[in-house]
Amino acid sequence: MTALSVSTSSAAAQRADALVIGVAKGPKGLVLAAGAEAVAEAFEGKLADVLTTLGASGAEGEAVKLPAAAGLKAGLVLAVGLGDAVEDGYSAETLRRAAGVAARTLGGAKKAVLALPAASAEEIEAVALGALLGAYAYTTYKGDAGKGPVGELVVLTDRKGSKDAKAAVERATAIGEEMNRARDLINAAPNDLNPKSFAAIAQAAGKEHGLKVEVLDEKALAKGGFGGLLGVGTGSANPPRLVKVAYTHPKAEKTLAFIGKGITYDSGGISLKPAGHNETMKCDMSGAAAVFAAVVAAKRLGLRVNITAWLALAENMPSGTATRPGDVLKMYGGKTVEVLNTDAEGRLVLADAIVRAGEETPDVIVDVATLTGAMVLALGNRTFGVMANDEELRTRLHTTSETVGEASWPMPLPADMRKSMTESSIADLANMGERMGGGLVAGLFLQEFVAEGISWAHLDIAGPAFHEGAPFGYTPKGGTGSAIRTLVRYAEDVAAGV
Ligand code: BES
Ligand code: MN
Ligand code: ZN
Repeated sequence: MTALSVSTSSAAAQRADALVIGVAKGPKGLVLAAGAEAVAEAFEGKLADVLTTLGASGAEGEAVKLPAAAGLKAGLVLAVGLGDAVEDGYSAETLRRAAGVAARTLGGAKKAVLALPAASAEEIEAVALGALLGAYAYTTYKGDAGKGPVGELVVLTDRKGSKDAKAAVERATAIGEEMNRARDLINAAPNDLNPKSFAAIAQAAGKEHGLKVEVLDEKALAKGGFGGLLGVGTGSANPPRLVKVAYTHPKAEKTLAFIGKGITYDSGGISLKPAGHNETMKCDMSGAAAVFAAVVAAKRLGLRVNITAWLALAENMPSGTATRPGDVLKMYGGKTVEVLNTDAEGRLVLADAIVRAGEETPDVIVDVATLTGAMVLALGNRTFGVMANDEELRTRLHTTSETVGEASWPMPLPADMRKSMTESSIADLANMGERMGGGLVAGLFLQEFVAEGISWAHLDIAGPAFHEGAPFGYTPKGGTGSAIRTLVRYAEDVAAGV
């Protein structure tokens, strides 16, 4: 794991593989960002010209290396682009992305020192978090251990010692490490990560961090009548689990329930997905990974709020024991569901978990799920959809996500679409309705299982959970850790009484 620290000493005094500075596009060419002063001095004022000669423009995403000048103790200087130059400070997201590009570019190095703009606590946190996230590398299955992440990151600032700077680094460390842990879970091959092994990982993390973890295995699920989880899991040699991870604070005034879809592999079941649609379906537990990471981060930060994370874990496989299209399941709580398409499995495991979570009367339920391809069609690969039975909560989660650098968009739950799941079914509800607006139909299905009087929101992260293209900013290829920052910031706000 990458170690992260802050230092107030001069960039010139740093022994490291690389010194990272920020550059931007000024009206008359490349300009150096705040933090680069000591490095620029070592280049006797010629640094911007040298970088321009090397082709640097300051564009976002750009990374240009050059040998360090005499007088510096680092091996090289890495200039990362911040985009258009600004007078009043770069946005947190711009800094996170630039730090992420730097850390990723320096993969394999032992130590990198970040001399980026870091004058305020917010800037320090952005640089620290972006660097930790950008340093992520998934090498579990690589024979030569691949090019591992940069070993040590040092954020330079002149604010060290001030309380808010320390808190900023602690926050970035907790969130960055838990996001990276969630990415590891998402990237793990589905023959290694199944409901049982995921539950064991949650139990171990519970021990490590002092969280209460309860696991319902297939026997306990049968005894309790969890027909959704059992119906989805019954085709697999790896039986389902429902995991409850509870964090409580003695002075908490509010209790939040975070529920995650945890399909460790989604083949589609008997309604099998065609080739081309199942290669990345190990990512279908990203919601469970997100709520798990969020509750651990909340504990590490000691937030004054109670959070119960529910991981609805199952593997969706076709076999002679699999649920058939046409089968009727009796869900936890007693509602019946006709399974018309076994590939609409996420809503089935979530429904059980939503009813179970509701029994504990939390103030708010938020579920997180890679639920529908329709949401990806609607919002693309980088934006998640926010639905809710409470407009204020929907707006709030959308706003929260945007402040932490996660793109989201509010989506409706049109009441008239509900009948497409009820009118033509022999059961209370079918697990599929009209095809158009499929992401909203899925949301309406979940809403049926929310207990009266509880505010509930649903985040459909099917687009941003798993990144298939080339890495950008602090986002690697593969699992991203989508929605974790939103959940943690929301919990922090609730804890602060906002
Ligand atoms: N896990 C998928 C949704 C998904 C699609 C996640 C693409 C990530 C990327 C989900 O279980 C699913 O298969 N949904 C179906 C529902 C349909 C059968 C009603 C879908 O979206 O096609
Ligand atoms: Mn599916
Ligand atoms: Zn799925």
